[in-house]
Amino acid sequence: MWTPPQRIRHPVLDTRWPTRDEASQSRWFSPLAFGPLHLHERTWVPAMVPWRATGDGLVTGDVLEWYGRFADGQPGAIVVEATGIRDIPSGPLLRIGDDRFIPGLTELVKLVHTRSSGKTRLLIQLIDFLAVKRRPPAEKFFRRFWRPTNEHKKRLEAALGCDTGNLSQTEIAEYLLTHPEVHAQVLTARELRDLQVGYREDVNDLHLPHIRDLPKHLPNLFADAAKRAQQAGFDGVELHYAHAYTMASFLSKTNTRTDGYGGSLKGRLRLPLEVYQAVRQTVGSAYTLGCRMLADEVIDGGNRVEDACAIARRFAEAGMDFISVSKGGKFDDAKQPKVGDAVYPYTGPSGYECMPTVYSDERGPFGRNIGLAAAIRRSIRERGLDTPVVAAGGINSFEMAEQILADGAADIVAAARQSLADPDWFRKTRLGRGHEVRRCKYTNYCEALDTKHKQVTCQLWDRVALDEPGVSKSTDGRRRLVAPAWDPDPPS
Ligand SMILES: Cc1cc2nc3c(=O)[nH]c(=O)nc-3n(C[C@H](O)[C@H](O)[C@H](O)COP(=O)(O)O)c2cc1C
Ligand code: SF4
Repeated sequence: MWTPPQRIRHPVLDTRWPTRDEASQSRWFSPLAFGPLHLHERTWVPAMVPWRATGDGLVTGDVLEWYGRFADGQPGAIVVEATGIRDIPSGPLLRIGDDRFIPGLTELVKLVHTRSSGKTRLLIQLIDFLAVKRRPPAEKFFRRFWRPTNEHKKRLEAALGCDTGNLSQTEIAEYLLTHPEVHAQVLTARELRDLQVGYREDVNDLHLPHIRDLPKHLPNLFADAAKRAQQAGFDGVELHYAHAYTMASFLSKTNTRTDGYGGSLKGRLRLPLEVYQAVRQTVGSAYTLGCRMLADEVIDGGNRVEDACAIARRFAEAGMDFISVSKGGKFDDAKQPKVGDAVYPYTGPSGYECMPTVYSDERGPFGRNIGLAAAIRRSIRERGLDTPVVAAGGINSFEMAEQILADGAADIVAAARQSLADPDWFRKTRLGRGHEVRRCKYTNYCEALDTKHKQVTCQLWDRVALDEPGVSKSTDGRRRLVAPAWDPDPPS
């Protein structure tokens, strides 16, 4: 993962944990009710992909265990990982693109409700994404994919400063294969990207019929997926309008589509609002429906917080029940993959901003994105709307969460990695036993596993008590897949 050049190591500072009484009277552990969204407290575990589904996207025993373990901590809400709305193979990521996924998801909902004693609301994040291919070897690119045109030939001649005569297409391709120094002058920006990081579809690819027709199909695909989520018993749906995926790309200033679905803010908002309306019509007004969106894309030419505020206001006006705020996580600045690997969106500076580590700049990772959530909340409130805003990013203590709520920077405070490090941390804090919390190190061992598409675990517990009877392990047998159980009353 990319690290800010300053590489300042920030310690995970000690914190004061509340007594049981203080916790019970705190803001974070107080209920929230907004329209259909009812939380017993304002704690929230945001979506985290654990790479535990079957290759066909079905719920497995390991998926059940993963979410069951978070449910033990009884947070206000858990959002199930980004779940694909299409019925297409996408590796061990959950899917909801067909009714055959409903039984497994129903089991998941029941398990979370049972393990949290009915306290935790379970939402599911619905995602659409476009095709990304592996980085090709240069030979394959020039011999199989690339077709030189007259324009390329002219640029090659300009680069070489001489006439290339009647070189055939094959000869031009062979020349480029062996002369990387002219690639930047001869290839288009897009071709250079295809060669250097691999082919990736883009919402701007209006020449591709299935990309041109996204606005025709996505509202129904999202609506059908949401209907299945409702049938499976989920308490709500989070539309994934963040990070590197289709809907965030429609919202982005980098969306220059000329078909009424890009360019101006109005154009960029059009499809996300049409998707929202289609889903709302399907699930009804009594069902929780919100989105996750970016407060800052952190890429050249992308949305900044002012754009995000305008977008969030429109979503709030449209009737969303919550807006969960994230940052970055784009393909545009991702690290160049090795030949044969696919580019991964959390590996560049924008990826760093999404999941900041303790190796940071002066600001450090803790509560790094709170200002952005605060700006979005303020702009929604200025419009006279009360839509709850969920803040996340380096939040690792009760004190910090309480301060965020006291400052009015957010209405709900989410913690992803801290909840992975210790799924019981909400419970321990509630019980006045915060000193027993296993605190996240924010060095992103978990995210490195995610990047490699390996089962996600936490370094603080994945080698503990590996010989415990019945413990489920990673495919290589070296790591346990969920944190050991916490017994609040161990026998003395
Ligand atoms: C392993 C892993 C998987 C993640 N998967 C998702 C995801 O599916 N959808 C999403 O919106 N965010 C995802 N995130 C981002 C988190 O939800 C969260 O925004 C980010 O980790 C920052 O919060 P934190 O500092 O509390 O960890 C993931 C994060 C991690 C570490
Ligand atoms: S692996 Fe590291 S960064 Fe991830 S949850 Fe555990 S301690 Fe935190």
